[in-house]
Amino acid sequence: MSTVVLDNVTKVYPGGYLAVDRMNLRAEEGEFLVLLGPSGCGKSTLLRMIAGLEEITAGDLWLGGKLANHLAPRDRDVAMVFQNGALYPHRTVRGNLSFPLEIAKADPALVKERVVELSRALHIDETLDRRPGTLSGGQRQRVAMGRAIVRQPSLFLMDEPLSNLDAGMRTELRMEISSLVRALGVTTIYVTHDQVEALTLADRIAIMNRGVLQDIGTPAQVYNDPATAFTAAFLSSQQLNLLAATVRTPQNQFILLDFGTHQITMPWTDPRAYAVSQHTGMQIIVGIRPDALMPVPERTEGPTFFGRVRTLEYHGHEWLAYLEAGIPAVHVPEPPDRRRGHVNGSQAGMNGKARSMMRRLLSSSAAEEEEVAGPAPSAASGTHRRADLIVRLGSRPVWRAGEHGRVAVDVSRLMLFTQTGARIDPPRR
Ligand SMILES: Nc1ncnc2c1ncn2[C@@H]1O[C@H](COP(=O)(O)OP(=O)(O)O)[C@@H](O)[C@H]1O
Ligand SMILES: [Mg+2]
Repeated sequence: MSTVVLDNVTKVYPGGYLAVDRMNLRAEEGEFLVLLGPSGCGKSTLLRMIAGLEEITAGDLWLGGKLANHLAPRDRDVAMVFQNGALYPHRTVRGNLSFPLEIAKADPALVKERVVELSRALHIDETLDRRPGTLSGGQRQRVAMGRAIVRQPSLFLMDEPLSNLDAGMRTELRMEISSLVRALGVTTIYVTHDQVEALTLADRIAIMNRGVLQDIGTPAQVYNDPATAFTAAFLSSQQLNLLAATVRTPQNQFILLDFGTHQITMPWTDPRAYAVSQHTGMQIIVGIRPDALMPVPERTEGPTFFGRVRTLEYHGHEWLAYLEAGIPAVHVPEPPDRRRGHVNGSQAGMNGKARSMMRRLLSSSAAEEEEVAGPAPSAASGTHRRADLIVRLGSRPVWRAGEHGRVAVDVSRLMLFTQTGARIDPPRR
């Protein structure tokens, strides 16, 4: 069993690409921690640094309370499963599963017993005498998983182990991974870009974007109470409405979120009122999930948005409507891209040089961040557009295209962010 602590762990690749930027997180003993983020955000890089397959440019990695930056991979007691679980093609399933134990010179009788037991748990006991080439993708991933599990490491690292499987197999294996790993109680760090996988599997989810940690918490915390606009958008099953609003406090009577064509008031009794009032006169980003907007009759009192129903979309289990309300929408604010052509990367492997290179990178990206924190993502930077409000209608299309539609706004479910995408009222963690 093992805890994993990352203390400002950073990776700069040769060529100067800052792939992981000052990552801080802690996986508790026996915890199932999911690293979630879009393709290219640095998840595999981070996992490979924990496994010892990639050098850490700066910061510290602690495994089971021991500084592990320079430990050889074989001394870390970790097992890793990759997307394409590479198996030994000329060994049978039995041979693949027993190999790690044979290397460890385990008692052959014990090996035999353990392999049979594990193959039953993974539903591959019928395939023990077959070679990997004759197995389905799902069976191969089960063998890869079994080979990682068989010698009971202190830490499992799994890098998108299900992403090459079809949907049905993915769901099935997802449940099995969950129960198997939990039964073993081994600390697990699981990488995925799939938010459903993350929400269903994790004890806690760490969300990354462009090498930067965006949020960490239980699935319910990061979904309902996201720390950043990126997290809110990435975890939404339907596209999140991200709208630009200006905060006003007319005569200090209440808080007005001014969307241009529409205004929504927030009373001073709202728990977020004080934090929002600190942004009076400034533009903020308001996130609204499509299911926080409820179609209502035309003469409804209270906070509402309205507009022309541009189009309806059938999704099988529900209808979505696109409402032209004339409210300016914004893109998800992103940390700056830190690819640097001018940095001489041939020396990045050398630690002193890499450190000084990283200092240069970090100082220049800090300047860039200030630029972004200024007027962006405003009309000036061209990220503004007037998009439709996406509204969830449920199983019946209550509107027709071209009609006038009105929706009640659940003010308590508005998510309020600064222009750089940080939450205005602090999330509860
Ligand atoms: N060996 C490498 N040299 C240079 N850049 C790399 C290398 N490996 C990965 N990268 C870059 O680092 C970024 C993060 O990659 P990766 O960790 O594989 O992301 P993810 O697993 O989240 O898709 C990507 O932009 C990728 O192109
Ligand atoms: Mg990857």
